[in-house]
Amino acid sequence: MTYKKALQHPVFKIISQSADALSVDAYVIGGFVRDYLLERGNAKDIDIVAIGSGIELAQHVADNLPSKPKVQVFKTYGTAMLKHEDIEIEFVGARKESYTEDSRNPVVENGTLKDDQNRRDFTINALAIALNKSNFGQLLDPFNGVSDLDNGIIRTPLNPDITYSDDPLRMMRAIRFATQLNFTIEDDSSKAISKNKERINIITKERVVTELNKILESDKPSIGFIHLEKTGILDYILPELTALKGVEDIEGQRHKDNFYHTLEVVDNICKTTDNLWLSWAALLHDIGKAPTKRFYKRIGWTFHGHEFVGSKMVYKLFKRLKMPLNDKMKFVQKMVFMSSRPIVLASEVTDSAVRRLVFDAGDNVDDLMTLCEADITTKNPKKFKKYHNNFKIVRDKIVEVEERDHVRNFQPPVTGEEIMKTFNLKPSKEIGIIKEAIKEAILDGEIPNEYDAAFELMLKKGKALGLKTS
Ligand code: CTP
Repeated sequence: MTYKKALQHPVFKIISQSADALSVDAYVIGGFVRDYLLERGNAKDIDIVAIGSGIELAQHVADNLPSKPKVQVFKTYGTAMLKHEDIEIEFVGARKESYTEDSRNPVVENGTLKDDQNRRDFTINALAIALNKSNFGQLLDPFNGVSDLDNGIIRTPLNPDITYSDDPLRMMRAIRFATQLNFTIEDDSSKAISKNKERINIITKERVVTELNKILESDKPSIGFIHLEKTGILDYILPELTALKGVEDIEGQRHKDNFYHTLEVVDNICKTTDNLWLSWAALLHDIGKAPTKRFYKRIGWTFHGHEFVGSKMVYKLFKRLKMPLNDKMKFVQKMVFMSSRPIVLASEVTDSAVRRLVFDAGDNVDDLMTLCEADITTKNPKKFKKYHNNFKIVRDKIVEVEERDHVRNFQPPVTGEEIMKTFNLKPSKEIGIIKEAIKEAILDGEIPNEYDAAFELMLKKGKALGLKTS
């Protein structure tokens, strides 16, 4: 069987001609071939392996492309990269590699195609299609990668112990591919991941987070987090989550397993939105429950203040994982901090409570509602329906209150300057007191969010404070 159809892009002809001109064998390998066979759409990353110098091949290809792209050379790794249209093409010479104990940096030697395929992570990523004229389109599949693709199996070409210990990032990659593709990780691989779990510590945080993000961007992230937990890797990267595991029972009073609950919430979120940061918020929304968990004989289990504690933990976690400490982190913190607010509301939906919710959540109020709806994981269909209905009422009320009161991005209808002018004041605490009183009156629905009503209240408050108009 020939795979010429995979090579329809004109760039493959050019690579083929260059390879022949230089008398080197060249193959397209890895993700491109895998995704072609899975019909996962057009890959924008093409990996080429040359039996010889990848750098020379890249240079030759670049010279033959009409756009004459620049070749970026990474000498230490013996790789070269060029961009053609919207495709990134990476060239590498076939390698035989061995890794040192404490680092991912390999000792590189030249090798055959088989050597190169051997050192790749998974059988499904070791598939190669030949590019020289004599064998253009021929598939080279020494480890039955096609059959693993058909059967949905993640398996390593070598003994998994060697593959994972060589490059522990592959443990995360195995779990990530299993999640993205809904594949099974072959048993020996799972065991080898458990055995090598500690070596995840030598991987940079950025790479770990890239994989976590890919898991969170999958249709069903729980698949990945269950693997991470079962293999023990989660303890090293997100101990805040493993701390949520388990159900305690004291005198017949139980609480739910907050780890599995969290995974359900994450899966729910991924069904409704592709906002990565909202998925992070879902993943972390209950992390404050482990440190705040208490048992009281009369009330049972409580997690008082877990939202506040959790939002503080978000900062530490982002910092530890070298994630951005910018508005994305603040968004996650805010979602965690506010995650129980709509639930409290759902039992009694008053205008003023909704106004406060919109005021506090601002532009994130819709995301907050989405998170809270995802948080409904009760298995009781009556309750499920009731909670969703209540949130529907909250959502309708948000629209109604917003149209009338415009508190989403609240701007005080009377400014501090106007207060100073009216009472002939220098900057002082009275201004803050009056502004706060106006804001509270608007949120409580005592006055409308309008200038005249706010001005009148300002005069009244000023008088009560003993201020005189100028
Ligand atoms: N590879 C590997 N070990 C790694 C990373 C990559 O063996 N730790 C090999 C695999 O053969 C992989 C190829 O290098 O297919 C390209 O890697 P990369 O571009 O990172 O991943 P893809 O497999 O293309 O998939 P994705 O783009 O989804 O990450």
